[in-house]
Amino acid sequence: MADTVTITDNRTGKEIECPILTGVYGAPVIDTKTLYKELGMFTFDPGFVTTASCRSAITYLDGEKGILLHRGYPIEQLAENSSYLEVCYLLLYGELPTQSGFDQFRLNLNKRNMVHEHLERFYTGYRYDAHPMSMLIGVTGALSSYYHEAMDINDPEDRDLTAIRVIAKMPILAAHCYNYAMGHPFVYSRDDLGYVENFLNMMFSVPMREYIPDPVAVRALNLMLILHADHEQNASTSTVRLAGSAEANPFACIAAGVVTLWGRAHGGANEAVLRMLAQIESADNIPKFIARAKDKDDSFRLMGFGHRVYKNYDPRATIIRQVCHDLLEAIDTVDQPTFEIAMQLEEIALKDDYFIERKLYPNVDFYSGIILKALGIPTPMYTVMFALARSAGWIAQWLEMMEDPDFKIGRPRQLYIGSETRDYIPIEKRG
Ligand code: CMC
Repeated sequence: MADTVTITDNRTGKEIECPILTGVYGAPVIDTKTLYKELGMFTFDPGFVTTASCRSAITYLDGEKGILLHRGYPIEQLAENSSYLEVCYLLLYGELPTQSGFDQFRLNLNKRNMVHEHLERFYTGYRYDAHPMSMLIGVTGALSSYYHEAMDINDPEDRDLTAIRVIAKMPILAAHCYNYAMGHPFVYSRDDLGYVENFLNMMFSVPMREYIPDPVAVRALNLMLILHADHEQNASTSTVRLAGSAEANPFACIAAGVVTLWGRAHGGANEAVLRMLAQIESADNIPKFIARAKDKDDSFRLMGFGHRVYKNYDPRATIIRQVCHDLLEAIDTVDQPTFEIAMQLEEIALKDDYFIERKLYPNVDFYSGIILKALGIPTPMYTVMFALARSAGWIAQWLEMMEDPDFKIGRPRQLYIGSETRDYIPIEKRG
């Protein structure tokens, strides 16, 4: 018996056989490509909850079992042993690098770790209090103006160079958002520093004195970046792929990813969590906020809780939660009262039937803000940090899409529910 699903149109009795495709892991998928041609029908799946939009070999996640793999490597092992830059290499090229491969990768990045001075002037067009995500959208999009005519997206070498440019320049763009907001000078990237140390140096060093980052902060940020590097076909990654499928400039596609990530149902949640914890103010107020989250007439949701795919636990949250506790012991910049409210909120919500029944668990963003706060990164910068990390995943997914033999422009269909055809009425005759 062939691996197919029979779809019968009960109105006409016509049947078609749709192949069942199986991947390495995960639910098999029904290939419905012939559905319209054979039956004249589309599928209806708002929010793409059961639609596989592409084949991908980069990331696998199992929401029931709480598994997350990048190129087959469990996130727990990468978090324990790897560095963010090594994970970038893994996402882009499919394998962990050899030492010489990694050295060459670093050399390639170092060759590209500047941005045009004119781009720096772009920041000054923003108001002093502009949200850093709005700046990041603008400056990432502006990168497209430097690499357009001269770049051929159909040339594999140009595509690779694009990926290198994204990884090399995003930390500069992100750090400058902070420099500008603080009124500090823009700091150049340095070849002699590791990725995380260099980023912290661009953020926090000032010309008057040497900046030496705390190794605990470096480790925590490295981990935070690894945990956010890629996450399968989420909203921002799907946006990057959709924009890329129209053969748009890849830097503009990354800017589109930044736009989507800013939403508070997505990457904007880390900022929203900290704002919510500040609003809760004291542990005594937690029941009031839990009640609001459960009230259908109130739009308030518990930020940092729930996930479209993870229905048991978010493996990234398990790792980052531990780091929050470790940080609390290692450095004194952790905001103790905020952290305690977070821990009590977590405990109360996890025992509440509303959250249990709906399988709403703390996600990675519930804890990432606490870490970023301890590192001295201001709340509006949190989603910028997420975008910095995720830019590796976005560009890896863009590369994969461009190499896919099934590559075609993304063009969803719809169920039209508007007016039937009607005749135009001149304005003076309209009632
Ligand atoms: N607080 C209160 N109720 C919630 C929450 C929440 N955070 N999340 C979901 N629900 C309820 C929702 O009201 C619905 O209830 P009912 O069945 O009675 O109508 C049920 O749970 C299912 O919710 P849904 O909106 O259908 O679930 P979804 O899979 O479409 O949404 C989500 C997933 C992440 C958008 C949502 O859980 C949410 O808004 N969470 C808060 C924002 C957040 O933390 N986002 C970060 C996600 S992880 C980082 C990333 O990958 O971007």
